[in-house]
Order: sequence, then C-alpha cells, then structure tokens
Amino acid sequence: MSAMSAQLEHQMAAYRERHVAWLQNALQQQGPAAELQQAMAYSAILGGKRVRPFLVYATGEMLGATLDALDAPAAAIECVHAYSLAHDDLPAMDNDALRRGQPTCHVKFGEATAILAGDALQTMAFQLLTVPHVDLSSSQQLEMVAALAHASGHLGMCGGQALDIAATGHAQTQEALEQIHHLKTGALIRAAMQLGAIAAPNRTPEIMTAIDDYAHAIGLAFQVKDDILDLTSTPEMLGKATEADLALNKTTYATLLGVAGAEQLLRQLTEKALHALQQIPYNTQLLQDFTDYLVTRDH
Ligand code: IPE
Ligand code: IPE
Ligand code: MG
Ligand code: MG
Ligand code: MG
Repeated sequence: MSAMSAQLEHQMAAYRERHVAWLQNALQQQGPAAELQQAMAYSAILGGKRVRPFLVYATGEMLGATLDALDAPAAAIECVHAYSLAHDDLPAMDNDALRRGQPTCHVKFGEATAILAGDALQTMAFQLLTVPHVDLSSSQQLEMVAALAHASGHLGMCGGQALDIAATGHAQTQEALEQIHHLKTGALIRAAMQLGAIAAPNRTPEIMTAIDDYAHAIGLAFQVKDDILDLTSTPEMLGKATEADLALNKTTYATLLGVAGAEQLLRQLTEKALHALQQIPYNTQLLQDFTDYLVTRDH
C-alpha cells in the first residue's frame, strides 16, 4: 500500500461504506429476472476502489452539498462504471477472465447475461438520478442526467472504447492515445466531479472551470497509471490480469513512453492537477491528498 494520508484513508473508507450500503439497497427491489439482478449486483457491489463515488462526495461536500444529495449521483456514476467494466471484459472487447479479484461477469453468468447486466446498470444509473429528492431541484437533477449522458456516450466513454478497440493492434501516436484515454476513462472521472458540484450550492463558473481542469489532468493520469500497473503489478495485487494490454498488442503509455517516461508524465499531470486546485477558494486538502494517492496507488 502506498503512503496515504490518514485523513484520506479514513474519508475514502467512510464514503465507500456509505455508497456501497446505499447502492446495495437500491439494487434490492426484486423483479422477475433473478439471475440478471444477481449479475448486476455481482458487477456493481463486490470490490472496487470506488474512486468515482469518492470524487462525487468529496467535490460535493467541499462545495457545501449535503451527503444525502450525493448518494444517488455517487451510485449512478459507479453503475455506469461497473457496466463499462462488464462490457470491457467481454470476449468481443478485452476478453478478460478476472475482475476485482473474481471471475468476470460473463465468465460467471454467461455472455448474454453480462451484456444485459451492463445494459440494466446503465439505465438504472439514470433512473437513480431522477428520483425526487428534498435537497435537489429538478433542474439540478436534469443537469446531472445531461452530464452523465454526455460523459457515457459516443462523446465520452463509449467513444473512447470504440477508438481503443479500433486502435488495438496498430501503433498509436501519443496524441491519439491521449484522446482515447481522455474519453474512455477521463470522461467519467470528470463527470463524477461535475455531479458532485451540481448538487452543491457554492458552485460558480470559475469553480466549474477549475474542477474541469483538475479532472482533465487526473482523468488522464488515472489511465496512465492503469497502463503502468498492467506492466508492473501482479494479478493478486491488481485483482485483474496483468500484461493484458501486451497480450492484445495495445499501445499504452507504458509501452509508448516506457515505464519511466510514463511515471515522468504522471509527475507533470500531478503538478497541473494541484495547480488547478489552487484556483478553488474552498478546502481542497482532501483532493490534494487524493491526487497523490491516484498516481502512487499499487492497485
Ligand atoms: C478500471 O477502473 C478501468 C479504468 C477506467 C482504468 P478502476 O481502477 O477504477 O477499477 P475499480 O472500480 O477499482 O475496480
Ligand atoms: C478501461 O480501460 C476503460 C473502461 C472500462 C471504460 P482498460 O481496458 O485498460 O481497463 P482495465 O485495465 O480492463 O480495467
Ligand atoms: Mg479496455
Ligand atoms: Mg480492459
Ligand atoms: Mg487497463
């Protein structure tokens, strides 16, 4: 475990526990398709660092939102993320058998159920955002729906995944790889912070710009670190296969720049991120510590 500030460790655990309990409850309503629901819960509840829910809560609380107002957006973004992982692991995409230390959703439940579990997690995300809430106006909720839809679809995560698949087996320039990473991973990281801010009373256009600049830097850094860990970690540590990118002949930051070059880029992105935080006139200590954790994490 990398050195993590005691406050960050405590706060990440507190947000994670709150979020997982809330999401578990949201998934409890029994419908007719029991196996589909099992697969949804399997993909959405077990394991995971819960980085995106953390960003919703941390950004929202920093700007004065209530914790209650942040539960649905935190769960919604994690549902989209869990769906993206279930589909990312499918044979037609990265064809991986291990995720969060368990067999992947399609290995456990079959491909058809894994596809449907991803679909249903995605629609559930948007449903969660529309449930009336005393701390949120309907225009705030509508803004959240728009932000999450933009980040998830062809202009965000799905667009990035499509470019990633098209690029597989072909050498990439650093510019092309940067675009793929910003879309497939950066877009949801950015949306997580936007959702938190939308729920809060204290946002201004200047703060939204600073948040976007910060998220842009850490979104890329997060995927660069993921690329490095694919080469340097172990399946036991990571909970997913390592050298998976190599096996598929994907260009990654670690193969393009070398591990040392990619680490150097992480340091530059950290500086950019911390600079953006300085533009926010609230207590950014938790996000400062989180920036450090993101690039030094070992899984
Ligand atoms: C993995 O995301 C896929 C990427 C976008 C890099 P995480 O590293 O956040 O995976 P979990 O949620 O902790 O399993
Ligand atoms: C994942 O990129 C991006 C999304 C799931 C949207 P990767 O394919 O590198 O993620 P891992 O390494 O399988 O978690
Ligand atoms: Mg992939
Ligand atoms: Mg993958
Ligand atoms: Mg990866």
